[in-house]
Amino acid sequence: MVTRAVMDKALLEATAAALVASGKGILAADESNGTMTKRLEGAGIESSEEARRAYRANLFATPGCESAVSGVILYDETIRQNMDDGTSIPDYLNSRGMLPGIKVDTGTIDFDGCPGEKVTKGIEAEPENGWADLGTRCAEYFEMGARFAKWRAVIQIEGREKPSNACMSANAEALARYAAICQENGLVPIIEPEVLMEGSHNYLECFVATMTMFQKTFEECKVQGVHLAGTLLKPNMIIGGNGYRGAEQTRDDVAASTVICLTHFVPHDVGGIVFLSGGQSDEEATDHLNRMNSMSGVYSEHPWELSYSYGRALQAAALKAWAEEGAEASQAAFAHRAKMNSLARSGDWDISLE
Ligand code: G3H
Repeated sequence: MVTRAVMDKALLEATAAALVASGKGILAADESNGTMTKRLEGAGIESSEEARRAYRANLFATPGCESAVSGVILYDETIRQNMDDGTSIPDYLNSRGMLPGIKVDTGTIDFDGCPGEKVTKGIEAEPENGWADLGTRCAEYFEMGARFAKWRAVIQIEGREKPSNACMSANAEALARYAAICQENGLVPIIEPEVLMEGSHNYLECFVATMTMFQKTFEECKVQGVHLAGTLLKPNMIIGGNGYRGAEQTRDDVAASTVICLTHFVPHDVGGIVFLSGGQSDEEATDHLNRMNSMSGVYSEHPWELSYSYGRALQAAALKAWAEEGAEASQAAFAHRAKMNSLARSGDWDISLE
């Protein structure tokens, strides 16, 4: 029988602060089994429950990574698995000073009436997929040691029709409801309204969609009574689509337009900003973060820590090395990326360190 924690603002704020502690960020290792299977197979490894466990356990065991990793987002399968010596993964992470987190959305479904758009689900129970309702799952994950959660909305830009107002509103409402339920159960919600890089849009279109999602999401958070200081925002950077063929946006432009968008459209009491990498190269994701943390004057006049919650940008090299060279090389590749991003937290990264 799982007992529910009561909403504890001090605990939520302390957790959020620990996740954006100086020089640290989050490792997103919460790929669903479907996504992780694609990633492993892409590297030439057959996917199985044990193959996913072995790769991730090795990553988490990287010597010294706790100096750059404040928390790790896990998937439901992983939070129930053990390290090689039998220690449960959440207990192991806690013992190394890395907070265990958990992806709690259960994926996306087509958004009726708006062809090609998606809305994220996971609040109601899905007995057919083995999922209890969100409140029940949050309470169980808290008991298992999780202290934060993630829910990802996916916003696609395409022509003048997408994203539709209706789809953005539905996703914003779900994000806020999710955040409120997490907080009632002691988990800091990471709010992730991801505007995808896939597409031929320019960075201004990305700016408008991102800004609109911020406005809608935080309006809904107010309605749901979400305690913003006990949340983290996981935004995309303001960047043109990967199919955009117009004038090049410099890296300084990415950094400046991202900070401007946050400063004007994100409430200042949000607990911290942890960017997703969204398909940027490892080095771009690090460089953009470094530039944002090196700005002066009006661009530095915001109240948040600007940190990372990278998936691909922290793991791509480690997965390749796991497939081609083995355990130690994988840990070395991960330790290197973690160190580079840790330096970018204070604007101390430089290309020569790569
Ligand atoms: O929800 C997205 C992941 O947690 C972050 O992944 O850095 O590869 O975009 P990414």
